[in-house]
Amino acid sequence: MNVLILYYSMYGHIHKMAQAVAEGVNGVPGAEATLRRVPETLPKDVLEKMGALESQQSMTAVPVGTVDELAAADAVIFGTPTRFGNMCGQMRQFLDATGQLWAEGALVGKAGSVFASSNTQHGGQESTILSFHITLLHQGFVIVGLPYAFQGQMRMDEITGGSPYGASTIAGGSGERMPSENELEAARFQGRHVAAIAAKLTA
Ligand SMILES: Cc1cc2nc3c(=O)[nH]c(=O)nc-3n(C[C@H](O)[C@H](O)[C@H](O)COP(=O)(O)O)c2cc1C
Repeated sequence: MNVLILYYSMYGHIHKMAQAVAEGVNGVPGAEATLRRVPETLPKDVLEKMGALESQQSMTAVPVGTVDELAAADAVIFGTPTRFGNMCGQMRQFLDATGQLWAEGALVGKAGSVFASSNTQHGGQESTILSFHITLLHQGFVIVGLPYAFQGQMRMDEITGGSPYGASTIAGGSGERMPSENELEAARFQGRHVAAIAAKLTA
């Protein structure tokens, strides 16, 4: 069973979360995670001004995905940084190229799930995931979240991402904070959970 983890990451936070999601998927017997990035849409000089060139370079080992890989996957877990409370434009552009898959119903009945990142604690983590779900529903995905069985989302002893909608990480005002162990554990849980549900859907 092939679980595609498709993401965009500008500064590496979602990249790190994606690796933890993959660990979770690979922990389920018979499931195999495939990591893919969506194509960059910003010109190099803009990325340079945004201070993103070095972190972008560090992620090049993960291949850029194609629309066809969505259709071939048994389940898809999407990762995106918040942009004004929504998914990033790179992910939007990729999804807007899936009209043919929609016309064919190629994604109908697959498990689909979303994880996210934002700079601030209340800067749109939940709205990003929930608004992403709208596209997944139009494509016929069966939405999978992060149930409270992952109890780490209830902790009060530290600031943490994670909600019933999906794993998330808080990057800090200038992106200085990398995902905490609790947030990575949420990502692993989500990977395991999606793979387990996908196994039932494809049985
Ligand atoms: C154009 C733009 C809009 C953003 N909007 C928000 C926002 O609404 N709320 C927030 O907390 N962070 C916002 N951010 C910060 C990003 O979400 C943050 O850089 C990202 O989550 C880090 O993940 P990454 O390293 O994987 O790219 C924004 C960043 C950019 C460049």
